[in-house]
Amino acid sequence: MTKKVLYEGKAKQLFETEKPSELIQFFKDDATAFNKKKHEIIDSKGVLNNLISEFIFTYLGNNNIPNHFIERLSPREQLIKKVEIIPIEVVVRNIAAGTFTNRFGIEEGKNLPKTLIEFNLKDDENDDPLVSEEHMKVFGWAKENDIETMKKYAFEINNLLSKLFKKINIILVDFKIEFGRYYSNNHYDIILADEISPDSCRLWDMSSNKKLDKDRFRRNLGGLIEAYKEVATRLKIDLSDI
Ligand code: TMP
Ligand code: ASP
Repeated sequence: MTKKVLYEGKAKQLFETEKPSELIQFFKDDATAFNKKKHEIIDSKGVLNNLISEFIFTYLGNNNIPNHFIERLSPREQLIKKVEIIPIEVVVRNIAAGTFTNRFGIEEGKNLPKTLIEFNLKDDENDDPLVSEEHMKVFGWAKENDIETMKKYAFEINNLLSKLFKKINIILVDFKIEFGRYYSNNHYDIILADEISPDSCRLWDMSSNKKLDKDRFRRNLGGLIEAYKEVATRLKIDLSDI
């Protein structure tokens, strides 16, 4: 039986399963940046992101961060809980990089005095504009309680991931996460969804500052797969199948 595609994103597809409360998340090899202005297929990126995201979601789940991951089904597929995605990209920044440096004219690599959370609307046509908590409430993208829950989890995830990466000599510069509403019995819980991988984080080697993330693609630095494999190997993820 061919499975029905429910959603096609830039780097992933979501398929229906027999259970209404579960989906299959399929990781593609597509790499995009600057809202698809730059697009390439990078062989085996999807497999690496599937494995790295599984590792991170399992670690977060074991540390009381509820999330959508259920189990890996194949090298590119994972079974996940079906959620209603909140259309907001939650970005957590420890060090100035990327669009933040351009926006404020700050040098890349500068430590921020405090961890910063930003929100971007998921809206490719308008280049994912930066939005405030007030925008989220006024437009109805998220309620006050949802926003507080997302912020609480975002800080906790930052602490947990910063510690995890520090142990393997990697600095967590910034990352993007997405949340969803998981419904049961007319009630919902906010849970972490989507993926966390070198596509959605900035990861710098602590000794050399070498970039081990999607900036290798955004900035034409080459060696993306080698960098993702380096992250996976340091996390002790089994790569024998790829
Ligand atoms: P930015 O500096 O480009 O705004 O990105 C901040 C972090 O969020 C960085 O780790 C990359 C990640 N990110 C995504 O995963 N998807 C996106 O669409 C954007 C804009 C950023
Ligand atoms: N939103 C970007 C894109 O066009 C992704 C990124 O730069 O991370 O794919």
